[in-house]
Amino acid sequence: MKVGILTGGGDCPGLNAVIRAVTKKALDVYGYEVVGILEGWRGLLEKRTKKLTLKDVSGILHRGGTILKSSRTNPLQSPQHVRDCFQNLKEIGIDALVVIGGEDTLGVARELYGRGVKVVGVPKTIDNDLNGTDFTFGFDTAVNIATEAIDRLHTTAESHNRVMIVEVMGRHAGWIAVQAGLAGGADVILIPEKPFDIDKVCNLIKKRHKRGKDFSIVVVAEGAKFPTSEGQDGTVVVQDVEKDAFGHVRLGGIGNVLGREIHRKTGFDTRVTILGYLQRGGSPTAFDRVLATRFGIAAIDLVKEGTFGKMVALRGNQIVAVDLSEATKGIKEVDEKLYEIAEVFFG
Ligand code: F6P
Repeated sequence: MKVGILTGGGDCPGLNAVIRAVTKKALDVYGYEVVGILEGWRGLLEKRTKKLTLKDVSGILHRGGTILKSSRTNPLQSPQHVRDCFQNLKEIGIDALVVIGGEDTLGVARELYGRGVKVVGVPKTIDNDLNGTDFTFGFDTAVNIATEAIDRLHTTAESHNRVMIVEVMGRHAGWIAVQAGLAGGADVILIPEKPFDIDKVCNLIKKRHKRGKDFSIVVVAEGAKFPTSEGQDGTVVVQDVEKDAFGHVRLGGIGNVLGREIHRKTGFDTRVTILGYLQRGGSPTAFDRVLATRFGIAAIDLVKEGTFGKMVALRGNQIVAVDLSEATKGIKEVDEKLYEIAEVFFG
């Protein structure tokens, strides 16, 4: 049995822990061969692979990034590319494929499975917005990085009586914003799921200042929507309108727009910090290392069982298998109840 493994989409801490777990159990316990496909789906199209040995996966558990590299290549954009995927899988001799990715990468996996490829998915994204799993690995690390940043910004905000805007990642869902905002004691949290009213935001800050607090922390997800006129859902702020292979524009910069508006409407001194890719880099937390390892072991066990078309997932404290079609049907939005808890501390 030859098992292929690839990492696609935006990287996140914990990818190497999955690669290590899959490879270790495949080689040591099941006696399989493991082939790493380089740079996500691009490597499959270009037939760029690397045989993985125990030595290759030794010493990588704590390392961020991915030893296989990643890309946002989408083979579904062209029927010829889909045919190339099949041809190359055959030529490389891959019997089963472990695909580590988010909604886009796993969407491709789902399509290939529908056309006969033996696929198992592993859920990754710092955004935590994949359906079917309580958590994706990478999210906990990003939340910890953002929380530490909020803690640090608190002290300088307080010294200068400033409103600090902290922009975090979260394209479609505000999980990082809510979780890090709660952990860091944010005074306002703005997320893509809830188009906000700038006047209400300003009133919350003013209310806080009135009761003697001279500084505020506002956490905003990059995908939060800025309303252009009353009653409208608003638009996202983009860095680049050009779309990637999956149709996404590059978000970022809402913090600056928000900071300017808050200053204009309240007169408070306002500063903006955009955390950006810091949230995706560096070592995974212990939680993410363990989750990624459990996912990797579960994925290779599914291959052994001959169960395909599934994604390994965390439900409660258990690792389960869910259909790839369920995992990729839309976005997992922030839990209303969690947001309501955060709202108690607004203003
Ligand atoms: O999906 C994870 C994510 O980090 C999003 O939060 C962000 O919008 C996007 O990836 C950025 O992607 P890229 O690496 O292509 O700039």
